[in-house]
Amino acid sequence: MLIVDGLSVDYGAIRAVREVSFRVPDGAIVALIGANGAGKSSSMNALSGLVARKGAITFDGADIGSLETDAIVRRGVIQVAQGRQLFPEMSVRDNLEMGAYLRSNAQRRATLEALMARFPFLQERAAQRCGTLSGGEQQLVAIARALMGAPRLLLLDEPTLGLAPLIVKRIGKVIRDLHAQGLSILIAEQNAAFACSLAESVIVLENGRVALSGTPAELSANDDMRRSYLGV
Ligand SMILES: Nc1ncnc2c1ncn2[C@@H]1O[C@H](COP(=O)(O)OP(=O)(O)O)[C@@H](O)[C@H]1O
Ligand SMILES: [Mg+2]
Repeated sequence: MLIVDGLSVDYGAIRAVREVSFRVPDGAIVALIGANGAGKSSSMNALSGLVARKGAITFDGADIGSLETDAIVRRGVIQVAQGRQLFPEMSVRDNLEMGAYLRSNAQRRATLEALMARFPFLQERAAQRCGTLSGGEQQLVAIARALMGAPRLLLLDEPTLGLAPLIVKRIGKVIRDLHAQGLSILIAEQNAAFACSLAESVIVLENGRVALSGTPAELSANDDMRRSYLGV
């Protein structure tokens, strides 16, 4: 479904992503893992059209590598940015509605209703300002906001960052449920164990390059990988 071929991102002299290639098959969960600064967010932002990029990005057979963010979102590639990026002064409901800014009023209403039925938490907290939610709650709202845009490929950038283990588990369950319903997901994580527990294939980034890739089982059979990322 998504084919990334030779993706590069430069910030002036800083080469953040260098010739990265990978695929996300239809209905799959794929993980980009790597340390802080490895180039995960730059890769995600490149896919979303938020930073200048080189290389080919093909989604459902169409070249999206030179499209603007709105056009990419319209095609169903929707990102939950690192750090959630909610509007803290706005209510949960208003934040969710922002996620459907490109859709019709009827679509927005229908999706909001469906999401609130599915996550009663959103209904209960609809009027609460997002800035007063816990980190885990904010992550849930950020994911729901992306779902408001009717994604076909969901990009999740470090969904577990700063969250307690119990909350990480809860986010993992939400991701698994979305996948079970057929959504394709690309997840960027420093938490390699978490990513490996979800993904069917994993790409390890180091200094902007693909250092290694394979199934979680293949990676955990690799000594360097175990030592560097899994801590075992
Ligand atoms: N806007 C920017 N301007 C300059 N350098 C950046 C910018 N964003 C990221 N970088 C640099 O690019 C590299 C990759 O960063 P990033 O993609 O955020 O990695 P990760 O998400 O894996 O932590 C780092 O060296 C970082 O300092
Ligand atoms: Mg990042």
